[in-house]
Amino acid sequence: MPALRVYPQQSPLKGEIMAPGDKSISHRAVMLAGLSEGESHVRRWLPAGDTQATLQAMRAMGVEIAVEQAAQGRTAQAWDLRIVGRGLHGLQAPAGRLDCRNAGTCLRLLAGIMVGQRFESVLDGSEQLRKRPMRRIVEPLRAMGAQIEDDEGHAPLCISPAALQGVTYRMPVASAQVKSALLLAGLYAQGETRVWQPGPARDHTERMLQAMGVSVTVDGDWISLQPRHAGQPLQPLNLVVPGDISSAAFVLVAAAIVPHSQVVIQNVGLNETRTGLLALLRTMGADFIVGNRHMSGGEPVGDLTATFGELHSVEAGGDVVVRAIDELPIWAVAASQAAGDSVLRDAAELRVKEVDRIGRLVGELRRMGLPVTECQDGFVVEGTARPRGAEVDSFGDHRLGMALAVAGLVADSPTTIVGGDCVADSFPGFEETMQKLGARMEWVS
Ligand code: S3P
Repeated sequence: MPALRVYPQQSPLKGEIMAPGDKSISHRAVMLAGLSEGESHVRRWLPAGDTQATLQAMRAMGVEIAVEQAAQGRTAQAWDLRIVGRGLHGLQAPAGRLDCRNAGTCLRLLAGIMVGQRFESVLDGSEQLRKRPMRRIVEPLRAMGAQIEDDEGHAPLCISPAALQGVTYRMPVASAQVKSALLLAGLYAQGETRVWQPGPARDHTERMLQAMGVSVTVDGDWISLQPRHAGQPLQPLNLVVPGDISSAAFVLVAAAIVPHSQVVIQNVGLNETRTGLLALLRTMGADFIVGNRHMSGGEPVGDLTATFGELHSVEAGGDVVVRAIDELPIWAVAASQAAGDSVLRDAAELRVKEVDRIGRLVGELRRMGLPVTECQDGFVVEGTARPRGAEVDSFGDHRLGMALAVAGLVADSPTTIVGGDCVADSFPGFEETMQKLGARMEWVS
C-alpha cells in the first residue's frame, strides 16, 4: 500500500495554485447533465476517485460523456466534459451493479434517481461504503413509495421500479446527501416534495436544479420541489465547476501554520453553506484575504490569500459545524497550533463519514504526540504542541490522510501516512500541489 512521507518544512510555503474542482458539484453536474435533454458542457470537472465512480455509473446507463480536454492546469487536475443527456426517462438498465466505490455522495444521490427508473438496479460500493448508514435515505425514499431492499440499513441497495409520490420530510440531521436524494426522487414523483433541514446543509443541488429550469423554492429551512409538468425536460448545463473549498482547506491551513508562508489559492467556491472553516479561522485570528469575488456555475467564487500568523483557540458548535463538516479534521490540525484549548461539539456526524472521523483522527493525532481528547460529539485540542514525526494511518480516508500530511509539515521529524494514496478520492495531485508550494512529500512503498 503506497505511503506518503512528509518532511518537516524548513522554509515558508510560497506560490499560487488553482483549487481543484468541487467534488460535490462535480458529482451533481454529471448526474443532472445525464438526465437533461441536450448537450451539457462542464468545465474544470474534478477527475477524482469518488467523482469518477459517478461518471462510470452514468456511462453504464447509456449517458455519452466525452472528456474534451484533460488539463493539468496550474497544478489542479481538471477535465472539460461534454455530456449528452438522455432525459429524465431515457437512462438504460445497467449491465451490472453500479459501483460507487468509496463515494457516499455517489450512492446516496444516485439512489434518489434510481428509485424513479423503470428498470431494476443495484447500488453498491467498497467495504468502506458498505459500512456507512443508508437508512437515512432508504426510509424517506420508501415513504415516497420507493421499492428498496437494503442489507440491514447498508449497501448494497436493490431498487425496483415504483410509482412515487411527493412527501414532506423533516431530516433528523442536516445532510445534503439526504436532502438531495429526496429532491432527485421528487423529479419523478406526483405532487410536491418538501424537505426541512435542521441546519445549513450545502445547497448545490437546489442551485443546479434551479439553473436547469426546475421549480425549487427555499423558504428558511424548508426546501420544496414542484412536480414537473408532463414532458418538461431539464435544460442542459453549461458551467465551470468552482474550486473545492474542502480541498483548498488543506493548503490554507498549511500556509497558516508553517512560519512565514504566503499562498494564493485561486478559484475557491465560497458558497455560504461551505465557508464554516473560514469563519472559524477568522475567529482564531488567521490572516487571509478573499479577493476577485465573482460568480461561476451559479456559485460565488474568489481567490484566497493565506498567510502565516499566530492563532488562538476557538469553540466550534452549532451551524458552523454543518458549514465546515468536511474541514473539521484539518481544523483540528490548525487548533493544535493555536494558543489555548479548542473545543468541537455538535459534530457526531463525523462518526459516520468515510471512517469514524472523531475516533480515528484523535487516535492518529495522539500518535503524533498531540494532546487531543475524544468526546462523544467532538474533541478537545490543546494548543500548542509540536507534533512528533510518526507512522500514522489514513484508514482509507482521504481527508484524514491530508490532515495528517499537513500536521507532518510542522512535526519535528518525518511523518509517514500509510494508505496515503486515498488522497486522490477528492484531491488528485495533492502532493504535487504541495510540492509546488515548496513542501517535501514523497511516495514510499
Ligand atoms: C456531501 C454532503 C456531506 C459531505 C460530503 C459531501 C454532498 O455529507 O460531508 O462530503 O456532496 O452532498 P452529508 O450529506 O452526509 O452531510
